[in-house]
Amino acid sequence: MQTNQPETFFFTSENLAEAKRIIAKYPAGKQASAILPLLDLAQRQNRNWLPRAAIAYVADFLEIPAIKAFEVASFYTMFNLDPVGKYLIQLCRTTPCWLAGGEAVATACEVRLGIKAGETTPDGVFTLKEVECLGACVNAPVMQINDDYYEDLTPDSVVKIIDALAHGEKPTAGSQTGRCGSCACGKGKEGLC
Ligand code: FES
Repeated sequence: MQTNQPETFFFTSENLAEAKRIIAKYPAGKQASAILPLLDLAQRQNRNWLPRAAIAYVADFLEIPAIKAFEVASFYTMFNLDPVGKYLIQLCRTTPCWLAGGEAVATACEVRLGIKAGETTPDGVFTLKEVECLGACVNAPVMQINDDYYEDLTPDSVVKIIDALAHGEKPTAGSQTGRCGSCACGKGKEGLC
């Protein structure tokens, strides 16, 4: 866990209102169930990572023991307990993606960025992370960059995506082969959707 931790964390007034709106969705006495969306809100406010102070703040907010919030934050890979780059690349390394060429895609990412999984580029722009199934196996290999999914990846297409981001462009999310939705390979362009 990051050693340079901020001492305090508070929701902005906008996020405070959003947190109250989220909590209001839950029945009386069940507000603790809002732990996931509130941790997510805190993480988005803090450049996509959760310092200890933010986790404790959310626990206080929900009136639950801090350890409960730490357990949740440390269990799910969607929560980052250390600072990450502007673009967080999460590469799926589970079996369907691996069988569809995920290993070559991962290698292409590492070579293009000059870092290994778990590292951030020296300029702080890209963080590379390996994760379990992203739930889009039918379009394997898959990676998630911030909130977007990129699918049907190849070593070439993954480098093009990273190049585009590095140049301040917004690459098109979704299938990189033109597949329509999750149609069977080779038929998506012919209009099965
Ligand atoms: S195995 Fe990669 S998305 Fe499911």
